[in-house]
Amino acid sequence: MTGASAPNSTQFKGLTAAAFRRVMGSLPVGVTVVTARDPNGAPKGLTVSACSSVSMDPPLLLVCIDRRSSSLEAIKATRRFAVNILRAGQEALAARFASRSEDKFGGVPCLRGRLDVPLLEGTLAYAECELFRTIDAGDHTILIGLIIHGDTRDAVPLTYFRRQYGAWAATPPG
Ligand SMILES: Cc1cc2nc3c(=O)[nH]c(=O)nc-3n(C[C@H](O)[C@H](O)[C@H](O)COP(=O)(O)O)c2cc1C
Repeated sequence: MTGASAPNSTQFKGLTAAAFRRVMGSLPVGVTVVTARDPNGAPKGLTVSACSSVSMDPPLLLVCIDRRSSSLEAIKATRRFAVNILRAGQEALAARFASRSEDKFGGVPCLRGRLDVPLLEGTLAYAECELFRTIDAGDHTILIGLIIHGDTRDAVPLTYFRRQYGAWAATPPG
């Protein structure tokens, strides 16, 4: 990992790391892979569950990225990224992009997006973004992206809850 070191957590009041993980891990979330290119054109990417829509007008989303992530510097430098929303069955992709492998993209089919950012093939949806704003918050940086283009397909989303992957299921009507 590269980039800035995390601030010394002892200077803050708050939950312990273990309690933080227990509490926030109780929020069921979707799973995304944030992709980008570094200034030399090499693909970069990491698994991210901290993703949310922010604004409709203009269309903004946010992702929270660990300040030690090697992908963060690439996004800050090129000011473009994509959010690939995974579908059920793509746990292996989530694990691969959560690893520290030097070759996360090897053998992973990708398309070239409109912003020249790699898009993972076969996902539930994607959003291509220009970097709109960055906000440092503790040991993470909030990246706000202006969504330039996106698309979806019919599929069941991959979910993550209490350190386990799952698949979203609709409550039957009635
Ligand atoms: C389900 C799941 C969700 C994750 N969510 C985030 C996240 O929201 N933000 C983040 O910075 N890292 C998150 N991670 C960890 C990163 O994917 C991991 O640290 C990755 O190795 C960073 O890669 P990089 O240093 O090449 O950018 C998550 C990992 C998993 C398995």
